[in-house]
Amino acid sequence: MCPGRAGHNAEGMRTQVAIIGAGPAGLLLSHLLAQGGVESVVLETRSEEYVAARIRAGILEHSSVELLEAAGLGARIRAEGDEHRGIYLQWPGERHHLDFVDLTGRSVWVYGQTEVQKDLIAARRAGGQEIHYEVSDVALHDVEERPYVTFTDVSGAPQRIDAVVIAGCDGSFGPSRSAVPAAQVFERVYPYSWFGILADVAPSTDELIYAWHPDGFALHSMRSESVSRLYLQVPNGTDPQSWSDDRIWGELSKRLGHGQNGWKLNPGPITDKSVLPMRSYVQTPMRHGELYLAGDAAHIVPPTGAKGLNLAIADVALLSRALISKIKDKDSSYADAYSDHAQRRVWRCTHFSWWMTTMLHTSGDPFDAELQLSQLRWVAGSRAGATGLAENYAGLPIGY
Ligand code: FAD
Ligand code: PHB
Repeated sequence: MCPGRAGHNAEGMRTQVAIIGAGPAGLLLSHLLAQGGVESVVLETRSEEYVAARIRAGILEHSSVELLEAAGLGARIRAEGDEHRGIYLQWPGERHHLDFVDLTGRSVWVYGQTEVQKDLIAARRAGGQEIHYEVSDVALHDVEERPYVTFTDVSGAPQRIDAVVIAGCDGSFGPSRSAVPAAQVFERVYPYSWFGILADVAPSTDELIYAWHPDGFALHSMRSESVSRLYLQVPNGTDPQSWSDDRIWGELSKRLGHGQNGWKLNPGPITDKSVLPMRSYVQTPMRHGELYLAGDAAHIVPPTGAKGLNLAIADVALLSRALISKIKDKDSSYADAYSDHAQRRVWRCTHFSWWMTTMLHTSGDPFDAELQLSQLRWVAGSRAGATGLAENYAGLPIGY
């Protein structure tokens, strides 16, 4: 059977790796497997256009960029992405720059998940890996020994794929995570959400601003020279349509410090509004029999610290090596170690995202507020404190 093409037999299709989910984890896994000579088939409930247009994460860690470059996916990041040396941390009256390159020798890149997704879709077209979009009724079977997946294809026909292994890359709402029996789940739900907007206006800052404010956290991010991405801490259950554009810009201006030391926040037309609830979730183990989980299927982090997409990429770096060794070289040692190995980074990122979240979001408790401000002053003022944040934000090496 030629790599990348599923074989069809009387029962249905057969492939080496059946991948559920065509988000960044599933598509990158399919790409890296193909480069290693392992064939896969990807199943996705949404359409290709929907998947390519979803607005999500915006920051790539140093290691993610290195990995995407090594996989031949770096050209557009270099040409169209924006390399940042660090971030600004601020609270009323003070703004401090943390220079990650100076502190750790590592930078980060502003390059949206939508762009990563487009690059992966283009690579898939060039590589010819098989993807079925707009499928339904996806179900996993016999994952302990002879795994197969059943689904209904876009034409309404029932289908079956037999595989050596199944990779569950179907995010937090897919069926894979619940196919791991007796998994241990760790969860923290936060009492606030992020109200995110996209605006057709040049960013008012050269690098991201993370702002603590007594009325709630705010973040100034960006997607390009002409598109800004901004977030506000809001109560859970906030309806994005209930906020007028004037109210959003007014709140952002106040929390981000418009007018302080001559700094101005430039408003512009808002093209998208959404509210994102925040939680931490870790499920372990990330493997059961011949089912392997990667990305949001196994863990969710709150977005403060920009780890979600990067963690999915790091999982897939480990999983692709494990599956290539297992399937091509008949060496299962990396596959057997996958869950424990991946969980080291998962917990590091879970801690970092929780720490950034609880340091920057106000809870209404004056004692908490004083602790947060003390922590922020220490992080911004001490090289040791700043280096800890920088090392985690710019990202530990893949394989940590
Ligand atoms: P996903 O991107 O969720 O991909 C999973 C795929 O599986 C999806 O395409 C889904 O349609 C598909 N799927 C689901 N069910 C099935 C099924 N039954 N059969 C087949 N396919 C299925 N992270 C940040 O760092 N910063 C952010 O600002 C940020 N914003 C976010 C906003 C939202 C609304 C969400 C949901 C996440 C956000 N994240 C953010 C997190 C980041 O986007 C994720 O960590 C990242 O997408 C993980 O990639 P993934 O491939 O594991 O999962
Ligand atoms: C984003 O640009 O969407 C973004 C940036 C940094 C974060 C979270 C989200 O911490």
